[in-house]
Amino acid sequence: METAKIVEKVSAIVILAGKTVRDRFGGSFSTSFKSSPADLVTEVDRNSQSIILKGLSREFTGHRLVAEEDFSEDELRLDDRPVWFIDPLDGTTNFVFGIPFCAVTVCLAVEGRPLLGVTYDPFREELFTACRGEGAFLNHRRVQADRRRRDLGESLLVTGFPSSERFKGEMLGADYAAIFSAAGDVRALGSAALELAYVACGRLTGFWEVGLRPWDVAAGMIMVEEAGGTVSDLLGNKLDLANHISIAASNGLIHDQLIEKLGYLSKSRYENK
Ligand code: IPD
Ligand code: CA
Ligand code: CA
Repeated sequence: METAKIVEKVSAIVILAGKTVRDRFGGSFSTSFKSSPADLVTEVDRNSQSIILKGLSREFTGHRLVAEEDFSEDELRLDDRPVWFIDPLDGTTNFVFGIPFCAVTVCLAVEGRPLLGVTYDPFREELFTACRGEGAFLNHRRVQADRRRRDLGESLLVTGFPSSERFKGEMLGADYAAIFSAAGDVRALGSAALELAYVACGRLTGFWEVGLRPWDVAAGMIMVEEAGGTVSDLLGNKLDLANHISIAASNGLIHDQLIEKLGYLSKSRYENK
């Protein structure tokens, strides 16, 4: 099947799941927590996931599907087989607290690299898509990372905070004093998938976060790259998908400054990794 056709089919599935997220927003739904009280899951995450799993397994028989709310660590062992990473609701905390900034995101990866990604914001009806070698799109119009800002001082950066204790040390390893004084401004919007999509379409200049999972970032990684931006680890090295991902993404023009100010290049800041 050609990639454009795959994107079309996946988009239809993701939009359908997004409709559930939008319809249930602000209503009543059961909420529980996973690894800690900060790591929330709702019945809407699970409903959205069922829609996506059903749709993908119907369209792509035999493909490997790894979905956030029902995976085993074994399935996460990446090899050369194609795999779909599914985050049925990215930004669950926002959703629970009634903040309409969440997404449904799906990515097909091959040999540890994202091949095509789809991220949908059901509240703004914004569909972000990207395929390797074919560019990045917002509602079918080509987008580019911010070409104007070359300096960290005029940049709008975004970050996020891991819910898992395991990554707090690595998170606090960033040189916040340096990054906050060098950046134009900094946000934390609460959906890594949408934040990366925003870097891809130039609304944000750069992003970093530690301890993310492949379903949080896979679609966003390809979007940023296809939009002319840069994606790396926190030392500026090439980033492949892995079980746990610490990531920096930007318009490319500020990338070296971002990495330098984050401070992970100084060895002691990585000792908690
Ligand atoms: C979370 C969001 C958030 C990020 C967290 C993720 P979830 O995903 O992407 O922005 O800071 O680390 O876990 O749990 O809402 O799917
Ligand atoms: Ca997520
Ligand atoms: Ca999620």
